[in-house]
Amino acid sequence: MFAFQLWREFKLSFSELWSVFPDAIFECISEDICILSGVEKKDILTWAPRMGGIIKAIQLIEWYRWNPSETIFEIAEFHEWKFAYGITYFWWTWDLKKILMDTKKLLRKHSISSRFINKNFTPLSSAQIIGENLVKKESDFSIVDTGNTEYFGKTIWVQDIDGYSKRDYGKTRDMQVGMLPPKLAQIMVNISGGKKVYDPFCGLGTIPIECILRGNKEVYGSDISAENTQKTKKNIAFVQKEFSNNIKTTECITLDARGISSSPFLKKSDAIVTEWYLGQVFQKYSITEKKIAEEKQKLLSIYRDFFLWLQKAKYRGTVVISFPFWEVHGKYHYFSEVYKIVEKHCKIEHLLPYHETIKHTRSGSLLYKRKDQVVGREIFKLKIQ
Ligand SMILES: C[S@@+](CC[C@H](N)C(=O)[O-])C[C@H]1O[C@@H](n2cnc3c(N)ncnc32)[C@H](O)[C@@H]1O
Repeated sequence: MFAFQLWREFKLSFSELWSVFPDAIFECISEDICILSGVEKKDILTWAPRMGGIIKAIQLIEWYRWNPSETIFEIAEFHEWKFAYGITYFWWTWDLKKILMDTKKLLRKHSISSRFINKNFTPLSSAQIIGENLVKKESDFSIVDTGNTEYFGKTIWVQDIDGYSKRDYGKTRDMQVGMLPPKLAQIMVNISGGKKVYDPFCGLGTIPIECILRGNKEVYGSDISAENTQKTKKNIAFVQKEFSNNIKTTECITLDARGISSSPFLKKSDAIVTEWYLGQVFQKYSITEKKIAEEKQKLLSIYRDFFLWLQKAKYRGTVVISFPFWEVHGKYHYFSEVYKIVEKHCKIEHLLPYHETIKHTRSGSLLYKRKDQVVGREIFKLKIQ
């Protein structure tokens, strides 16, 4: 059995896990952790680096002593170096200070020199786990207490935060083009399951880049702006060089998505993964309901033509797409006008397996939004009908 620490947007993480491991059994899930059985460790280690929604993967071992200190002692006995370790709990809160102190005392009693990494007795961050090399040392421990069952686990993989900064460093940017967070791009690509992904609003190329890093051998992009098309090509070249990736085909052209049926990539791709044009950049103090209404009108004409021509072209791939929504004075304003267009041309696919409490929005989407931002992203998985 394995536990996965989920990202802040835990429903998207859940959706990604379900897409990547469709045959796994979802034992239980909370807002920060999900327990799966029926998955192989080797598959987790292959997939985890390509997933944006997983912070850490933990192999759960049977709790045979019911006492974390004694369990850790049994492991520490076989270590030759000074035993450095960390402990984190999930779901139900445990008294971490007591566990850390009890463990230290027990190890000292058995003449095992040790050091715990937890600063101020708080759970460990990915940076601490990586900095201390605890995954390789097999000494980052987790207690997962679901309220019904207690599990004890060892971390087998942790998200490479440096990898995300490395992608950003050297990328050509443009503050006017709102770039998709790389983790969200990874999740959207995984949800689509596409091997030959096409982004018709590619901007600066976040989605094509994440496809390349995922190991996809073909990736396509287009954008109405010739300047952005050039920037995408540059960013792809940077990533290919920096990560020595040997992708077979990458093509990017300038094209207005309102005329999507003329795109040469519809036939070549098995999924469209894209972030819709988010419209004007708003600030908290400048946004009003009137401005949102005006912005929606501008965007709607693009959306109408895009879906109409996609349907006329009989596109058979999966479409994973993000539409904007806005927050004004603490209230979310959804792009409900676009739902009608979607319903007219598409079938909305499930993003989550059935669960009593963890559900989609009423429109069948999942949301991504940062607290400090006015605009959020509403993610749909669609099939053209
Ligand atoms: C929010 S950006 C996409 C950013 C991209 N996901 C990234 O992370 O780099 C939206 C893009 O849509 C493009 N765009 C706007 N209208 C378009 C249209 N009618 N057809 C194609 N692209 C369009 C803009 O030029 C812009 O690059």
